[in-house]
Amino acid sequence: MIRQERMTVVRQVEIAHHIYELVLQGEIVQDMNPGQFVHVRVSDSFEPLLRRPISIASIDCEASECTIIYRAEGRGTQILSQKQVGDEVDVLGPLGNGFSAEAATEGGTALLVGGGIGVPPLYELSKQLNARGVRTIHVFGFATENVTFYEEQFSALGETHFVTVDGTKGTKGFVTDLLEELQPEFDVFYSCGPLPMLRALEQFYPEKPGFLSFEERMGCGIGACFACICKTTENTEKDYVKVCSDGPVFPKGVVEL
Ligand code: FES
Repeated sequence: MIRQERMTVVRQVEIAHHIYELVLQGEIVQDMNPGQFVHVRVSDSFEPLLRRPISIASIDCEASECTIIYRAEGRGTQILSQKQVGDEVDVLGPLGNGFSAEAATEGGTALLVGGGIGVPPLYELSKQLNARGVRTIHVFGFATENVTFYEEQFSALGETHFVTVDGTKGTKGFVTDLLEELQPEFDVFYSCGPLPMLRALEQFYPEKPGFLSFEERMGCGIGACFACICKTTENTEKDYVKVCSDGPVFPKGVVEL
């Protein structure tokens, strides 16, 4: 159920260059699933008016806390990065349809591929997969070393590989270069990141079931404004889907890439 709540800031840390980890406490955490997102109103004044969609990186139902990780690149997210412990943030959520951890079977292996700020939602997914007895392999691409994060957290869950465009951390190049080199054995893949990466994965693994999370530009976040529509493939009943309310996660082959 979508709810609006004033959540309390429990912690805020800059974990990489302009990348912030924000822990929020509130009741809506109880309804969250991996791959869903929240729409955060960054300021109580009228400007900037819009909410910012931020994916959920980690869920702790016992403490009623969730972690979101975002890049402070525009005015809105810069304002958010100044929030202090004890401040309140107006949050709408949880939104969208997330990853289906159930698609992976116990004893099987899941490949998780992320790019940049697409990596965070894969963390809660990996935790839940591991809890179900699924082995996880993580392959993550970033622009450069100082924007990488969560290496320790992912390594604690499974085999973890980093690749950077400039080679300052891990292999030099893109995730696809590393996947070609690693030739990982797996049963199902999950991915979140830029379109060229999602497209490459669909082409790389035509035989494997896979789930892709799209980072489309959004407006309302609740299916009302059509800012996030994407064309679907011929195999799909609908002509278009809305990334915010039909997704952001779709089984592979649904959205035209
Ligand atoms: Fe408004 Fe998706 S963001 S319909």
